[in-house]
Amino acid sequence: MGRSNFLLFAVFLIVGVASRTMDETAQEVIEALAHSIFDDWSPSFISTNNPLLGQVLPSTLFIPMSTTSSYEGGDKRKFAAYHLVPGKIDFTDILSKKDGSRLPTLLAGSFILISNSSSGLYLDGVQVIEPDVYVDSVMAIHRVVSPLDFAR
Ligand SMILES: *[C@@H]1O[C@H](CO)[C@@H](O)[C@H](O)[C@H]1NC(C)=O
Repeated sequence: MGRSNFLLFAVFLIVGVASRTMDETAQEVIEALAHSIFDDWSPSFISTNNPLLGQVLPSTLFIPMSTTSSYEGGDKRKFAAYHLVPGKIDFTDILSKKDGSRLPTLLAGSFILISNSSSGLYLDGVQVIEPDVYVDSVMAIHRVVSPLDFAR
C-alpha cells in the first residue's frame, strides 16, 4: 500500500472508530470487562468509555472486591453487563433511592435490588463498601464486597 493510500486508510480508521455509537460503546465496555480481572475493571472501564473513541455511555459500574480475582462461572459478558447500570449514579443518588427500589442494568431485563437501612447500603444483599471510587461528569464507580449474582 502506498504512503498516501495508507494515510487515507488511517484517517478512515480513526473516523470509523470515533463515530462509535453509544450502543457500540456499551458492547465494547462489556467486552473489556468480561476479559479483565476485577483489579483491572476500573482502568478498563475508564479507558474504554472514552470520548476520544466515540460516544460515551453515561453509566455506573459496581466492582467486586478482588478476593475472587475474576468471574469463573458461566457467561462473563452477562456477568459484566449486570454490574453496569445506565446513567451516572453517585453515592448520594443511591442513598436517595428508597429501600426496596431496583436499578436497571445493562443485562436486559435484569435489575439490582437496593436495600437502604441504617446498617448500610446493600445491592442484592451485597454491601457497598467503597462508594465513589471514581466519579466524573458521566461515570461513577463503587466497590462492593462480592460479585452480584445475576442468576438469582
Ligand atoms: C437511606 O439510608 C440513609 C442512611 O440510613 C438515609 O440517610 C437515607 O435517608 C435513606 N434514603 C431513603 C430514601 O430512605
